[in-house]
Amino acid sequence: MRKNIVAGNWKMNNDLSQTETLLTAIKQQTQTTNAEVMVAPTFVNLYPAVNTLKESNVEVIAQNMHFAANGAYTGEISATMLKSVGIETVILGHSERRAYFNETDELLAKKVDAALENGIRIIFCFGEELADRKANNQETIVKSQIANALFHLEASAFNNIILAYEPVWAIGTGETASPEQAQDMHQFIRQTLEDKYNSEVANNVSILYGGSVKPANAKEIFSKPDVDGGLIGGASLKADDFFAIVNAF
Ligand code: PGA
Repeated sequence: MRKNIVAGNWKMNNDLSQTETLLTAIKQQTQTTNAEVMVAPTFVNLYPAVNTLKESNVEVIAQNMHFAANGAYTGEISATMLKSVGIETVILGHSERRAYFNETDELLAKKVDAALENGIRIIFCFGEELADRKANNQETIVKSQIANALFHLEASAFNNIILAYEPVWAIGTGETASPEQAQDMHQFIRQTLEDKYNSEVANNVSILYGGSVKPANAKEIFSKPDVDGGLIGGASLKADDFFAIVNAF
C-alpha cells in the first residue's frame, strides 16, 4: 500500500557519538508523525542505532549491501548480516554508488534479488544526470534504470519496493527539481509500471523524491499527487531540519 515516507540518508557522516546524539534528538521529535520515518547511518553504527531507536517509530535502514550471502568479498556486508542486527530495509542504486563504485544496472539487479530473497525491503534509487536532462533524455534514462534492475521481477515483488527518483544534478547541489518536474517524472514512473505490470502496482508503490529537499521546499514537493515523500541527504543530518521535513506531511 502506498505510504508517506521520509528517509534520511546520512551517507559517510556521523561517528558513533554523533550518531547517538542525532538519534536521541530524532527519537524525541518524531513521536507522532504522518509519515513513516527512516534513517540510514553508516554500517558500523547500524546495530547501536537499532538499539537506540528500539521503542520509537523510526526505522533504521542500511545504505547498501552485497548480493552474495557470504564468502570472499573483503569489506562487504550481506543481507543476512543486516537482518541479524535488525535491519529490514536497504537503499540500493544510489547515484553515488553508481558513480563512485561503478554499480551497474546488472549488479543492482543481483542486489535487488538478494534483498528480496532475504525479506529485506528496498528503496531503489535512480535518476538522470544534468546532460541527460539538458538533452531531454530524462525519461529514457529513468525508464531504462528501472527496467534493467527491476523488470525481471513479478508484480508481487513491488510490495517490498519503494522507488526514489533522485536527479543527479539535484543531489547535494542545493538545486532542487521543481515540484512540477518531480511530479512529471513520478507520473511517468507510475505510467511505466502500469504499462509493464498493472495499475495496482503503479498506484500502490511509494515514490520518493530526493535531491536538496529542505524544510523550505518539502511541503510543496510532497503536496504533488505522485510524490509520496523524500530521501533526504544533507538536511537529514540536523534533527530540526529533518523533523521539519517529516512534518511537511
Ligand atoms: P541531498 O541528498 O538531500 O543532500 O541532496 C539526497 C540523497 O543523496 O539521497
